[in-house]
Amino acid sequence: MDTRQAILERRTAHLWKAPEHGGAVPDVVVKRALEAAHAAPCHKFTWPWGFVWAGAETRAEIFDLGISLKCPNKDPSPRLLEKLTAKLKNPAHLVAVTQTVVEDPYTSKEDYAACACAIQNMALSIHADGFASKWSSGGLTSHTQSYKLLGVDPNTHTIIGFVWIGVPQTTPEKPARSPLNTHIRRTP
Ligand SMILES: Cc1cc2nc3c(=O)[nH]c(=O)nc-3n(C[C@H](O)[C@H](O)[C@H](O)COP(=O)(O)O)c2cc1C
Repeated sequence: MDTRQAILERRTAHLWKAPEHGGAVPDVVVKRALEAAHAAPCHKFTWPWGFVWAGAETRAEIFDLGISLKCPNKDPSPRLLEKLTAKLKNPAHLVAVTQTVVEDPYTSKEDYAACACAIQNMALSIHADGFASKWSSGGLTSHTQSYKLLGVDPNTHTIIGFVWIGVPQTTPEKPARSPLNTHIRRTP
């Protein structure tokens, strides 16, 4: 696929088909996405990114954590359980992306930018291979329990995103964008 086409057509997906119902994604797609991620630029060769590819046991625990965060004191309704299943259980793969913790705020900012490039490279590679992804950064991503389940030490690494990979239930809608010309100013 042409690079520009991948950039312009890639979409975030939110609800996913179950792997056993048409939602499976071969491991090679994730491996290619990680290769693309590792090809991202970084300033001063800090290589700040890390990738934790969650296995089935971890995925089950993260799903339970997602449910407990939505419904802390009771069981979820069947409707909510269905939605959380489509969001958190169905994606064929989950990769947590980490950034190495550094003291210097300037380096940390540049490293975050590099990690964002890496995640976008993943998303473009996944799209070019015919699948979809989502970068999530919500409460589940940053929860202390997620660090424990994924074996990430918060003193040395920050989880900056979960990349969910799968087959969407429906073709994701293109969000309305503010007009490009409102973002551009040319100087004399
Ligand atoms: C840094 C970052 C964090 C994001 N976190 C979330 C998230 O927590 N939940 C979510 O639904 N989407 C998240 N997204 C995806 C955006 O919602 C999505 O990119 C946006 O709606 C535009 O859609 P598009 O990716 O199809 O262009 C995140 C995107 C970025 C860049």
